[in-house]
Amino acid sequence: MTILVTGGAGYIGSHTVHALLDRGDTVVVLDDLSTGVKAQVGAGAAFVQGDVADTALLRRVIAEHGVDSVIHFAGSIVVPESVADPLAYYDNNVVKSRALIAACVAANVPQMIFSSTATVYAEDAAQPLAEASPKAPISPYARSKLMTEWMLEDVSKATKLRHMVLRYFNVAGADPKGRTGQSTPKATHLIKRAAQVALGRVPHLDIFGTDYPTPDGTGVRDYIHVSDLAAAHLLALDALKKGATSTAYNVGYGKGASVREVITGVERVTGSKLPVKESPRRPGDPPTLISDPSRIKAQLGWKPAHEDLDGIIASAFAWEKRINT
Ligand code: UD1
Repeated sequence: MTILVTGGAGYIGSHTVHALLDRGDTVVVLDDLSTGVKAQVGAGAAFVQGDVADTALLRRVIAEHGVDSVIHFAGSIVVPESVADPLAYYDNNVVKSRALIAACVAANVPQMIFSSTATVYAEDAAQPLAEASPKAPISPYARSKLMTEWMLEDVSKATKLRHMVLRYFNVAGADPKGRTGQSTPKATHLIKRAAQVALGRVPHLDIFGTDYPTPDGTGVRDYIHVSDLAAAHLLALDALKKGATSTAYNVGYGKGASVREVITGVERVTGSKLPVKESPRRPGDPPTLISDPSRIKAQLGWKPAHEDLDGIIASAFAWEKRINT
C-alpha cells in the first residue's frame, strides 16, 4: 500500500518522505511546487505535480497508486502573510483541505495525518501547552489550521476516516545526511534567517519585538529538529495502521529559547557576530509557545534524538551553506 504525501516537496514534507523511503515504505508525492523543490523529494518516491483540491486528479492518484494513507503537509505557513491576506489562507488551508478530505472519504482512504500548529492555543494558556489547553488562535493562519482540525474531527466521527493531528512547535534544522533542508528563498523562520545573516546573504537580523512578557522581552519558542518531527509522523502513521483512534499530539521538546538566545547560539555555532536591529512586533506573533510533549512520548513512543539547540542551528547552517540562495 502507498502513502500519499501532499506538500512532499516542501521543507517538512521532504524530510518525512526521506524518512519513509529510508524504512522501505512506498510513497507518492503530490505537490504544486509553489514553494517546494522537486529535487529534494527522495528519488524513490513517485511524484505528481498538482493541486490537493483537484478532485479528479486525487481520485486517479489514489486509485492508481493504491493509496491507503495520506500525510497532508500542503498549505501556507507564514503568520504575518496570513494577517495581510486572510482569504488566501482560508482558501489554501481550509477550502483545499476540505476537498482533499472529501476525496479521501469518497475513495475510502482510512487514515490521514494533518500538519497543525502550536499557534492554535490561547495566548494566555498556561505554558507548557498540553493538547487539552484552551484554543484561541489569533492569526488567520492558526485559525485556518484549527478549522481543518475541526473538519477532521467531525468527519472522523461521521465516516470511517481516522486521523491524527500533529501540532508542530518551531521546526528548524536540516537532514543530517544533507539531502534536503529549508529552501524557500524568502523564508521567514528565525534560525534560517539568522544563518543567512551569518553568511552575509542578508544584511541584518530583525528582532521582532523586545517588549514581550518574557524573561528578555523577546519571543520564546520551542525549537525542534525537523528529523525528530519527521519521525513523529512515522509513529503516528504506524499507530493509525494498528487501529489507533483519532487524536491530536503536540510535537515539541518542552523547552523554550528566546530570540536573543537563538542569536547567541547562532553566533556561537557560526563564529560570526550577527548584525541585529530591534524592530516592532510582527502582527499575529504570540509571546511564548512551549510544548508539553508527554502525550506523544507516552502513547506513540516518540524519542527525540536531536534536542540540542546548537546542533539544530549547526545543521541549519550546514544546509544554508550548501544552497546558494
Ligand atoms: C513558526 C511557523 C509556523 C508554526 C509555528 C509554531 C513558519 C514560517 N512559521 O511560526 O508555521 O505554526 O512556528 O510555533 O514556519 N523572529 C525574529 N526575527 C526574524 C524571524 C523571527 O525576531 O527574522 C521571531 C518571531 O517574532 C518569533 C520567533 O522569532 O518570536 C520565531 O519566528 P518564526 O521562526 O518566524 O516562527 P513562528 O512565527 O513562531
